[in-house]
Amino acid sequence: MLTIDRLAVAYGAVEALHGVSLAVGRGEVVALLGANGAGKTTLLRTISGLLRPRSGDILFEGERLGSSSAESRVKRGIAHVPEGRRIFPGLTVRENLDVATTVWRRRGMSADDDLTRVFALFPRLKERARQLGWSLSGGEQQMLAIGRALMARPKMLLLDEPSLGLAPRLSAEVYERIAEINAAGVTVLLVEQNTVLALEVAKRAYVIENGAIVLDGPARDLARHRRVREAYLGA
Ligand SMILES: Nc1ncnc2c1ncn2[C@@H]1O[C@H](COP(=O)(O)OP(=O)(O)OP(=O)(O)O)[C@@H](O)[C@H]1O
Ligand SMILES: [Mg+2]
Repeated sequence: MLTIDRLAVAYGAVEALHGVSLAVGRGEVVALLGANGAGKTTLLRTISGLLRPRSGDILFEGERLGSSSAESRVKRGIAHVPEGRRIFPGLTVRENLDVATTVWRRRGMSADDDLTRVFALFPRLKERARQLGWSLSGGEQQMLAIGRALMARPKMLLLDEPSLGLAPRLSAEVYERIAEINAAGVTVLLVEQNTVLALEVAKRAYVIENGAIVLDGPARDLARHRRVREAYLGA
């Protein structure tokens, strides 16, 4: 579904990704693991069209994304849940979700079913539909950020550290929902520092260090790999 071929991305003169290649198959959950500053967010932002690569290709469903806009990539089916959630603090839960349905409304389609699905997945959001974004807990904000991405009916969800700053019980809950979203047919590429959680949900994983992929394989093999255990599992 997604093929990344020798992608290089730079901020000014400083290159952050040096020829990254990876692939995500339809229906998979793939994790991208790596330490602070490794280039994980840079990769997701480039996939969703917020950053332009210096060289290399991104193919989605066999087509080059080239220099297409972030908006057109959302329409193609790529939804990005950014690091730090970034919901609209001054809008209610319901309004935050409605913002993401403009695409459907412009085409004269209703987003009622999308809303029903998101509320079924996250009942807490339904209870708090009229509450303002800023007043939600960290976990609720994460659920809202994921819910908002789902309103765009994505084929592929890019998740940037969904468990960041959440208590273990809430992280586990968010990951249960991610597994449900995947079971409903959405392909997932997720970035995580919580390696234990990520390797439980993902089928395959890549490890990125200093802007380059250094390891990849089935999640259960990586969980046993010495380098992963030493660097990311505290073994
Ligand atoms: N806007 C920017 N301008 C210049 N350099 C940047 C910018 N954003 C990121 N970088 C640099 O690019 C590299 C990769 O950063 P990135 O945010 O992709 O890492 P990350 O793996 O997501 O880290 P973290 O786990 O801390 O979120 C780092 O060296 C960072 O300092
Ligand atoms: Mg990051």
